[in-house]
Amino acid sequence: MPSFPKPKIPDAVVPPPLRKPAKPGSGGTPKGQAPSDLKEAPERKSAGDKMLEVGKEAPIDALGWVDQRLAASGFLTGMLFRKVPKGTNWFYTLGSATLFAFIVQATTGVFLAMFYTPSATQAYSSIAHINNEVPLGQLVHGMHKWGSSVMVILIFLHMGRTFFFGAYKYPRELNWVIGVVLLILTMTMAFTGYLLPFDQRSFWASIVGININGTGPIVGPYLSDFLRAGPELGATTLARFYAIHMLLVPGAIIALIGAHMYLVVKLGTTAPPWVKAQRPKVAAPVAPLEAGANGNGRVNGDRSNGVPVDGEETSA
Ligand code: HEM
Repeated sequence: MPSFPKPKIPDAVVPPPLRKPAKPGSGGTPKGQAPSDLKEAPERKSAGDKMLEVGKEAPIDALGWVDQRLAASGFLTGMLFRKVPKGTNWFYTLGSATLFAFIVQATTGVFLAMFYTPSATQAYSSIAHINNEVPLGQLVHGMHKWGSSVMVILIFLHMGRTFFFGAYKYPRELNWVIGVVLLILTMTMAFTGYLLPFDQRSFWASIVGININGTGPIVGPYLSDFLRAGPELGATTLARFYAIHMLLVPGAIIALIGAHMYLVVKLGTTAPPWVKAQRPKVAAPVAPLEAGANGNGRVNGDRSNGVPVDGEETSA
């Protein structure tokens, strides 16, 4: 096939960056043309490189898309970069450790629920099935069983920290009250979960626990009747404990942890009791001087009785 010479493409239709640079000494950029430094053809990327670049940016793009609609980054930045008081130490990690223990319990609990049967005749065998036949079943069951004790220990240690550091005082009383409810709910989880394997130990231990509840003043007998769900501990008790353990209490705990965390972020944490409050570095606002007596019964600026006027520093 005969080959024809390539036709010359007129300069006017070539986009500026692709135009050839003007010849040296030809007198600079002619009118209507792009400057010579823009005339270099851009580096062409292969389709694979482009896809890799898009792939790298995708998570950030997706997060940006969500953030534009939720405006959550401001809240997250405020929460993650908030200031903590001087002297904050390892004891302050006990709350987060309790939270972590709860998350482990919730996660392992979901997997156990996939294989557990809450029936008086099948509960025990379903636990045996989890332990002996389900892949990693024994590990997940063990994590859930030991994790419950870990969470109970951590919640008490965390409560001790907040008590001894005086974190229950103003303005954190409400967070303390929420904490007390969380403590009761956590104990309820541990108690109701104990019956679920429905073996000899859990059966008799639950009878003891229900009877102890019955000894409480006024509400005690009603509470034990409610928990037993019948004259004797049996199938209805198991169903009730299962519903409390799986539905009622976890939902309440999640909601209350949300409120607890909101208050921690909003109010900040308490400084350890041995850290003394320091004077702010900026000068304290001085009360406007007015002629006449102030609250101390003397004229502003009068130091004659040695008592400082409002806003003044003491010499001691
Ligand atoms: C599921 C249970 C709980 C979780 C997940 C939890 C989590 C947390 C976290 C992460 C903090 C901030 C960090 C820290 O101070 O450790 C905190 C603070 C606090 N918690 Fe809890 N907590 C729980 C139960 C309790 C209980 C039982 C109480 C007391 C009865 C309590 C009272 C407080 C108080 C007063 C603060 C503020 C501490 C301060 O200002 O220094 N919490 N909690």
